Amino acid sequence: NKIKLFCPATVANICCGFDVLGLCLSTIGDEMIIHKSSKKGIRITKITGADLPFETEKNVAGVAALALLKDLDIDFGFDIEIHKKIKAGSGIGSSAASAAGAVFGINELLGQPYSRKELVEFAMKGEALASGSEHADNVAPALLGGFTLVRGYNPLDVIRIESPAELYVTVVHPQIELKTSEMRAVLKPEITLKSAITQWGNLGGLIAGLYTEDYELIKRSLHDEIVEPLRSPFIPNFDLVKNSALKNNALGCGISGSGPSIFTLNKGIKIANNIAVIMKDIYSKTNIPFEIHISKID
Ligand code: HSE
Repeated sequence: NKIKLFCPATVANICCGFDVLGLCLSTIGDEMIIHKSSKKGIRITKITGADLPFETEKNVAGVAALALLKDLDIDFGFDIEIHKKIKAGSGIGSSAASAAGAVFGINELLGQPYSRKELVEFAMKGEALASGSEHADNVAPALLGGFTLVRGYNPLDVIRIESPAELYVTVVHPQIELKTSEMRAVLKPEITLKSAITQWGNLGGLIAGLYTEDYELIKRSLHDEIVEPLRSPFIPNFDLVKNSALKNNALGCGISGSGPSIFTLNKGIKIANNIAVIMKDIYSKTNIPFEIHISKID
């Protein structure tokens, strides 16, 4: 009647896959405890580690949970405890972790009436509350693990892709505030055919590289000329981090989700660790507080 969950952080977009690609950081995440209750409805009973609303309709976990329960006729409810470790507004899927955790945990306590892929749609309702848009590129990898591709949104069609064994992610979170809604507002609604060709070539290349564990192909494909140029000016030292990471053998570097976190994909833990040192050197010279994480993708 109670379940304790690890709710993983995620990196969305991964350079060439704006709103469609994401990956799951298997060692960074929140904790959530969900209790079945004889009282109907959803209640957020405890929050630690962040200042978030307790009102169910204003809390991403609450909204996602309500979406799941909407079509079910049950005469009991759930109490949710959220223990945040992923900082809100970090760009590594803090809201997605809460939304995904809520629907995953409740579905387990109900005996799995829904598949994990079906849960993505409910979790997206929580994500919409947080960012103003129903994107699935954080909630899908949080629920399915590995890499996920949203092949289509209408209807939702999500594909899970196993991570190549030697791939590691290094993430730096410079702690400035960037709201996803505002970082979406800086984007242009239209792109040129030339940019589209470059982008879908890279996206296809990246997917092929993941399936065939071709690290050189992954490296050639990790570019974004559509979103990154418009968002990166808001992230202090982005260009320096990216240039230094690429010079030091990272496969690729980009903005994690809508930022401000910056991620690199690396072949092997040694390079991942070395990139972490480089990131630390760069932000230590500023007065911006920062956090660095290294993780596998699972
Ligand atoms: N794809 C979304 C965006 C992810 O970049 O706006 C937000 O975390």
